[in-house]
Amino acid sequence: MSQILKIGHRGAKAHLPENTLASFQYALDMGVNGLELDVHVCSTGELVVIHDFTVDRTTNGSGEVHKMTLAELKALAVEGEHTISTLEEVLDLAGKKCFLNIELKGRHTAVPVSELMEKYIAEKGFTYNDFIVSSFQREELMVMHDINPNIHLGILTQASVTQAWRWAQEFSAKAIHPHFSLLTESNVKKAQQAGYKVYTWTVNEPEDIERMKLYEVDGIMSDYPERL
Ligand code: G3P
Ligand code: CA
Repeated sequence: MSQILKIGHRGAKAHLPENTLASFQYALDMGVNGLELDVHVCSTGELVVIHDFTVDRTTNGSGEVHKMTLAELKALAVEGEHTISTLEEVLDLAGKKCFLNIELKGRHTAVPVSELMEKYIAEKGFTYNDFIVSSFQREELMVMHDINPNIHLGILTQASVTQAWRWAQEFSAKAIHPHFSLLTESNVKKAQQAGYKVYTWTVNEPEDIERMKLYEVDGIMSDYPERL
């Protein structure tokens, strides 16, 4: 059996504010193989790492991310001393120490993410293997596949492994990313026999982590990377 990859969900969400540099550093210190993060484009065009479409839940501000400038976003506090990071800042922090699972959460993120990946591949020694780009959004997956079929895609689903599999075929994805509640030993095996990796989320309870290990998934995302 090959190694099951340990992936820090939004860094180490259970321990530090999600999607912050501190959270990613904590997960790196726990020895993760990968970091999962969520991206949106702000009004000045930069890619920022934040889960929601608004800043309301995770910062001391309010408003929609895509309508705010980077300066406005950077001025916000995330649970005290933390700030919203750009994707570039996270890539620089990770520095090829692990792979990045970039989730295209916001709309119109595929093009700028692919451009930034190309920049890090051309200038900073990254390779396509250092990235997996995932999304629930058909449009972003389609755009990403059309721009560059070399980019490794992961199809996110919380509804149906079968549908993820269909999209995986359509977009030549490397992986499916189903919620762990959708998985059985049998559907994991079938997906793997069809050539897809299975990366599952967000698995926090020890008994669920054990079950996913028994199913021999390829990677597990957790808010508690140390439990993996
Ligand atoms: O990428 C896996 C997982 O992060 C998807 O759901 O809502 O946590 O972004 P969510
Ligand atoms: Ca996510």
